[in-house]
Amino acid sequence: MSDLGRDYETSLDPTRRRRDGVHYTPRAVADELVERAFAVHLSAIASEVPFSVCDPTCGAGVFLLAAADALVARGRTPFDALACLRGMDIDPEALDLARTELLVWARAQGVTAELPSVFVVGDALNDQWPNDGHLDVVVGNPPFGGQLAGATVRDQSAVAGAARILGRPAGYTDTAGVLLVRALDAVRPGGSVVFVQPLSILGARDGAIVRDFVSPALESIWIPDDQLFDAAVHVCAPVLRKPQPVAAGSGNNETDVIPTWTELAAEAMGVPSVRLRGTPLSSLAECTAGFRHEFYDVAAATVERGSVGSESADFPTLITVGLIDPARLLWGTRAARIAGTTFAEPVVDVAKLSKPFELRKRPKLLVATQTRVIEAVADYDGMLWPSVPVISVLPRSDDAGALDLLLASLIAPPASVWAARQAAGTARSPGAVRLSATQLAQLPLPTDRERWIEGSQQLRAGQLTTAVRTLTAAYGLSEHEQLAVLDWWTFRSQRRKRQGKKAGL
Ligand SMILES: C[S@@+](CC[C@H](N)C(=O)[O-])C[C@H]1O[C@@H](n2cnc3c(N)ncnc32)[C@H](O)[C@@H]1O
Repeated sequence: MSDLGRDYETSLDPTRRRRDGVHYTPRAVADELVERAFAVHLSAIASEVPFSVCDPTCGAGVFLLAAADALVARGRTPFDALACLRGMDIDPEALDLARTELLVWARAQGVTAELPSVFVVGDALNDQWPNDGHLDVVVGNPPFGGQLAGATVRDQSAVAGAARILGRPAGYTDTAGVLLVRALDAVRPGGSVVFVQPLSILGARDGAIVRDFVSPALESIWIPDDQLFDAAVHVCAPVLRKPQPVAAGSGNNETDVIPTWTELAAEAMGVPSVRLRGTPLSSLAECTAGFRHEFYDVAAATVERGSVGSESADFPTLITVGLIDPARLLWGTRAARIAGTTFAEPVVDVAKLSKPFELRKRPKLLVATQTRVIEAVADYDGMLWPSVPVISVLPRSDDAGALDLLLASLIAPPASVWAARQAAGTARSPGAVRLSATQLAQLPLPTDRERWIEGSQQLRAGQLTTAVRTLTAAYGLSEHEQLAVLDWWTFRSQRRKRQGKKAGL
């Protein structure tokens, strides 16, 4: 983003900024996405054939500038590069800025003629796009417009435009997703689309219609690890290439295996690809998660341990996600916030609960969700109370050794890799692993029982670093796979600690 763009963006009235999704893109991100969009067109770009690149919601033109530089770097003359560019935006002032930015660029490149680029004021949902249907590349960052927040709910004309694009009412589908579908329509067969999207496009139910439309064109997904825009939304960018139409009667019966969004997201996030072959966790234990309504029931029954009478055995210790580290309980060393109140040592006054405590009074594992690697602790005497959304793993055997083995299987780095691949991109942030009780029940167990027992003993003795190595080996992976898994797990664990420290935890 240029100074002009930044100044203009901050000068806008916040309501309008929210309504039109005005969050200009940092230049480094535009460069990266233009590179990805151009990757399959390098020979066309290097030749003199006409080539067109459009950002239909171009704002102050950062993607067009990035495209101009990339075209020149690949041999186009500056004038030729400018002739490739098509910009459109609903905001005429933003379009003026884009024009000015490109004019400054042109003059700096020695171009004295009038700008050959095309700029049109238009509504990308309802109007024709420049070179519509024949574009080589569409690249940009369209407005995000969630349909739950009042400020970004579509007006009547946008509702009609979105419905026309999807062929049915768009409902809660984000406007950015609708424009992704529209962009694929605007490129020629073989053309590319790289359009920034909210990360939720990868897994949200309301994004399914968009995923269905664009899946045949999906080649890869770009996922940055940090938040890029001050919109405080995690983003990604599917990299699409419009398939060539299949000639009628071509007789090709081979079905292409299309990688799933989850697989491509896992790849984009650098999660190693390994296959675990063990029997599922459900063969040894049952996984359950509390219900949302339980949370409020328990919150109302939570007291500080130091308060009257709470030393008694009827006051189980309340464990939130934040109090669970890998094989380490932080209760008493870290405060917990429960329904807006901070507790140093939260316990549950079971007499105040609407359901009997006995239901939970069992040895079990407690597993956190939305963490960077799987984090779980053992509850040997059944006195820990899982606060929603903590998952409980209840062993089918009463043997204390069984609990240790189960804990070891969850702390083992291959388990985190497996979970990260299962639901890649669908957690709240790219760095988190989303877990559900149902999914956890499918987790494959280690296959080398001797190493599994050895690793669980090391874990019990507090030797986490040694244990994770032994347990990685217990999954029967090749040396190469073990290294990749351990590297990934160690990196993710260290990030977790650094972020924790930064947050003052
Ligand atoms: C997220 S900003 C991105 C701008 C630019 N592509 C960038 O990345 O810096 C979204 C842009 O979409 C424009 N916009 C919003 N609704 C639009 C619509 N229906 N048609 C065209 N442009 C629209 C806004 O004016 C804003 O410039």
